[in-house]
Amino acid sequence: MGLSNVLKLHFDIPANDFVSAGEASSSVKKTLSQLGIAPQVIKKSAIAMYEAEINAVIHANGGTADIEIDQDKVIIKIQDEGPGIPDLDLAMQEGFSTAPDTVRQMGFGAGMGLPNMKRYADELKINTEVGRGTTVIIRVNFA
Ligand SMILES: Nc1ncnc2c1ncn2[C@@H]1O[C@H](COP(=O)(O)OP(=O)(O)O)[C@@H](O)[C@H]1O
Ligand SMILES: [Mg+2]
Repeated sequence: MGLSNVLKLHFDIPANDFVSAGEASSSVKKTLSQLGIAPQVIKKSAIAMYEAEINAVIHANGGTADIEIDQDKVIIKIQDEGPGIPDLDLAMQEGFSTAPDTVRQMGFGAGMGLPNMKRYADELKINTEVGRGTTVIIRVNFA
């Protein structure tokens, strides 16, 4: 397949903006839907991307989202220059969260974001470095 068949999308993810939080993932969800992608695939992509996007908002002062949609998959890359994750195995555990009370009061910080990304992505890669930031790459296959 040629490069011309890859659709690329880019979004900035604003820091600590709980009103527009989730806009990038809703936009991607809409695009996948317009492309006629299967509902279960859209659901997996939207949930995994939403969790990564929200993490960039609440834990990392925002970041960017780069999406590549081709014939057989979507690759979602969420990048931030936040504090990084010191213990990724611990962070991956269900219920683990360092979210402050102010964030929990708004309904975030249940500690299910990373476990849900793992669950819904066909492949999840996380590169993180303390003091440098975090990159999450989610692949969801269309079939
Ligand atoms: N992009 C990120 N930058 C820094 N820390 C992160 C990031 N994503 C996740 N974390 C850390 O991993 C923990 C678990 O993440 P997650 O499972 O999404 O739960 P929650 O966001 O509800 O706290 C977070 O509380 C935070 O400590
Ligand atoms: Mg989270």
